[in-house]
Amino acid sequence: MGRVIDQYNRACQSLAGGVSSSTRLNKAVGHAMYFDRADGCRLWDLDGKEYLDLCCSHGATLLGHGDRRVREAVEKALNRGAACSYENEQHAELAELLCDVIPCLERVRFTGSGTEATMHCIRLARAFTGRPKLLKFEGNFHGYHDQVMYAIGTPADQLGSEENPTPYPGSTGMPPGLQDQIIVVPYNRVDLLEKAFREHAHELAAVIGEPIYYNAGCILPTREFLTALRSLTQKHGVLLIFDEVLSAFRMCVGGAQEYLGVTPDLCTLGKAVGGGYPLSVFGGRRDIMDRLMPIGDCQHSGTYNGHPVVVAAALAAIRAYREPGFYDHIHAVSKVLLDGLTQLFTKHQVAAHVQGLGARFGIYFGLMDQARNYRDAVQHQRAHMLRFIKAAIKHGVYFHDYGGAACHHGFCAAMTVNDAEEALRRLDAALATIT
Ligand SMILES: Cc1ncc(COP(=O)(O)O)c(C=O)c1O
Repeated sequence: MGRVIDQYNRACQSLAGGVSSSTRLNKAVGHAMYFDRADGCRLWDLDGKEYLDLCCSHGATLLGHGDRRVREAVEKALNRGAACSYENEQHAELAELLCDVIPCLERVRFTGSGTEATMHCIRLARAFTGRPKLLKFEGNFHGYHDQVMYAIGTPADQLGSEENPTPYPGSTGMPPGLQDQIIVVPYNRVDLLEKAFREHAHELAAVIGEPIYYNAGCILPTREFLTALRSLTQKHGVLLIFDEVLSAFRMCVGGAQEYLGVTPDLCTLGKAVGGGYPLSVFGGRRDIMDRLMPIGDCQHSGTYNGHPVVVAAALAAIRAYREPGFYDHIHAVSKVLLDGLTQLFTKHQVAAHVQGLGARFGIYFGLMDQARNYRDAVQHQRAHMLRFIKAAIKHGVYFHDYGGAACHHGFCAAMTVNDAEEALRRLDAALATIT
């Protein structure tokens, strides 16, 4: 890793922490990774070493690196001059496509990152309901703005009681008092959700949640939890926001809301929606979205919103997700990879549990039962996970460690069953070195 390490040392002299984004440092190897090029499901680092990618740009690269359809769409947009801060015909084309495929969408807005999407969605929910507070689930992650940076990576010894979880801040620098606007409830606890509604429904603008809790690996909501969530929010006029930044397009084209059969009032999309380019979306019921300026009174604007290059990339990507057989392939690769991983852990006598849905999954070291919420996930053996990721990287499989509770991993559609089997062979060799 000579050139990779040299590059890290060089970057540390001018980039804070050597990276453009804090979680880009891979704690398993102790530095950021520096890649020279990528193609499909493979990456090559600055030293020329090749990896099968099981991070996939934190979920943004669902098609695969350098997908031809996306690249051609981007090239066309560049050839048209890529005039940003103006609208062209592709904005409405993309909006129509999204409203067609995602169940809750009647109107959308484009913005740049998942963080921006949840920030604007929450402001809109407050504007529409005239209420101040937000209910979020313990551990669910909604980006890096102050409104939601609570109870995301709470250390196990700081959690507080399940009845009253600590709104543990995810960063310094947030204004005191902001945590008073947040009600935290553990995921999948219907009784505690009902209790929170008895106490706070009158002051809640919205409930925001990950409909599939991928940020702790892959945790599914129970049917009772989802039913309670939709009926309590409807009964009390509280808006239900599904944060589908990570879950959208992962297991079916309509995202978690289609998969689960529950339609929220608003949702956010990010990562895969842009086909590897920086687009995010928020949207939902028309009556709520009509509160946005210029027809309503709630502000959402931005110079780079709906940049023509990313809009073109998103159109190409979503059309690719809609191609016949796309999700059959995702589910076929998922089965080979996840079953294979489980068999490898058994073979090497590693206590680890694999949970996944569609193109993303989590590995819980030291847990043999299903993880149901953050409190389960945070019990996983982090040191063991870091050893596994380090050995995997050494043997040519790229996993990323984000810090905190169990991580989410994933593959892209460019990965074939043969590639998945190759990844398993490399991981077999990697596991042999750490057990
Ligand atoms: C569910 C969810 N919401 C929001 C975000 C923030 O997205 P971004 O990193 O694009 O700001 C993420 C990022 O991981 C996410 O997983």
